[in-house]
Amino acid sequence: MQDLSIIRKAIAMNKVKFGAEGWNNRFRGDGWAYGKEPNAWLAERIKPGSGRALVPADGEGRNAVWIAAQGYETKVFDLSDVGKEKCAILALENGVTVEYEVDDLVERDFTEEEFDLIACSWFHVPWTIFCEHYPRMLTSLKPGGEFICEGYHTTQMEMTSGGPKSLDLLWDLDEVMEVLSNGFETIHAAVETVVLDESDLHRGPAHVVRLHLRKI
Ligand SMILES: C[S@@+](CC[C@H](N)C(=O)[O-])C[C@H]1O[C@@H](n2cnc3c(N)ncnc32)[C@H](O)[C@@H]1O
Repeated sequence: MQDLSIIRKAIAMNKVKFGAEGWNNRFRGDGWAYGKEPNAWLAERIKPGSGRALVPADGEGRNAVWIAAQGYETKVFDLSDVGKEKCAILALENGVTVEYEVDDLVERDFTEEEFDLIACSWFHVPWTIFCEHYPRMLTSLKPGGEFICEGYHTTQMEMTSGGPKSLDLLWDLDEVMEVLSNGFETIHAAVETVVLDESDLHRGPAHVVRLHLRKI
């Protein structure tokens, strides 16, 4: 494959952005775009607990609601105010409370060492934003706190089971680890082929990056 950094730079110069209104349109209506069940990787890794959890970019709240039901005091931030309304409905259905802030990763302030867990699925942002703001977000983990996430790998481009069709947004495991792993113990970091069954948007074989890190 051509040098990824050159491809990313070319794409970034086109400034393609699927902003808050795009996500609001996806989440409007009765259904849940990615289902009401939690992401399978998060559900496999997260055990019942009692600490504080941050669920970045949780859209309609399926992961946050499930994490709250595991006993965590749970907070979401996401661009979408429609997502916030859907999350409130799902939380009510499940008898849990989720604090949901409509906010942008780029602009959000993070309090150091606030959370015991940060967990997210399919939170793809342009690569320069990932490099600057994912590490900033992870400063809000306490020592011993865990970061669990799943994102689409660069080879997902050819697949039909979801994910952004832009290499600037997709993940290369080595690059992701270079940005995130400093100050973390790696519990799991792998590129995997999994079979997704989340919704019509995320169904079938997919190439994903699965991470589980613990802050030292
Ligand atoms: C593919 S959806 C995934 C939603 C959720 N994590 C799930 O798996 O059901 C991506 C989400 O990222 C959010 N998002 C994208 N860019 C963001 C940013 N810069 N700051 C906060 N949220 C963002 C969108 O609003 C959307 O809800």
